[in-house]
Amino acid sequence: MEMYELDGLRDFLWQENHKSNNDIYFLENMDSWSNELRRVLDKALLNTLTNFSSSNETAILIRGCPIGNLPDTPVTSGYIESEHVMLSAKFLFAMFGLMKIMPISYTGENSGKAIRHIVPKISQNSQIGSHGYLEFNFHVDNPDLSLIGEESKRPPCLEYLALYCLRGDSQAITELIDLKDIVEFMSDDEIKIAQSNQFNIQRPDSFEDGNPSIKNAPLFTKFNGKYYSRYDFHNIQSTNNSSSTALNKINEILVNKINPLKIAFETGDFLIFKNQETMHKRSQFTPEYNGNERWLMRLFGMKDTPQNHLHNQLVLRS
Ligand SMILES: [Fe+2]
Repeated sequence: MEMYELDGLRDFLWQENHKSNNDIYFLENMDSWSNELRRVLDKALLNTLTNFSSSNETAILIRGCPIGNLPDTPVTSGYIESEHVMLSAKFLFAMFGLMKIMPISYTGENSGKAIRHIVPKISQNSQIGSHGYLEFNFHVDNPDLSLIGEESKRPPCLEYLALYCLRGDSQAITELIDLKDIVEFMSDDEIKIAQSNQFNIQRPDSFEDGNPSIKNAPLFTKFNGKYYSRYDFHNIQSTNNSSSTALNKINEILVNKINPLKIAFETGDFLIFKNQETMHKRSQFTPEYNGNERWLMRLFGMKDTPQNHLHNQLVLRS
């Protein structure tokens, strides 16, 4: 993973004062905002960002990014209109513009909105997920959707996941590992089984349509020499002995063989990673519900290529 510390960008402010809650406004302006960012970021970082989608790098962490004035963490609704976090929302979209990544959202998830606010929501405190505080074990986001290289009629699984920390909690540790590091510990047979249609997927709780499950899907795909996965500790089940052995092996590698990258998010941390080429988890933490809880903004993205046909099409069917 590449890591950068920004000097002085914390005070970076866009001149324009227009406020909006409309995702399309952010989409339409992201390129011009990214041009403003291009003027203040150093060359090495710009290079890393613009090459990220085609590079073998799986994650970039940038610390010291601009936030602006912060309201209390929205723990009751789990949601806040973008106009209240305008600078951070613009920054997120501008970074995607710089990286030539198209922001996406899914119908039936997060009310179709682009930005999800990852906060411990009071009413969902016993759930494992982006609005909870219980340990959220290793997973790929939206594992039921179609992976790169998978032949399926399901819509595409997000390729990029960005997290932007508005408020940190030193107790909450996010861990990130590369899929290729896991594959190294697997036998050819186990990899083959992982690529076969012997796994069931329970749709994660964040979807609003009753969580139907997907049957007989592969755990890994391989495309142009790279592996992609939909591993999800909480939501993937094996269907027979061999797929159970492969799943257990991955669990064992995760626990005993791999040294994950560990991040305690701080205000102004921007992390982007390749969802299907990594796995991430978050430790348990204890929110106090006093307005100061951990708060991340999340934005999904796809590589913005003509093949993807994503231009000006923010919401994907899920
Ligand atoms: Fe996640």
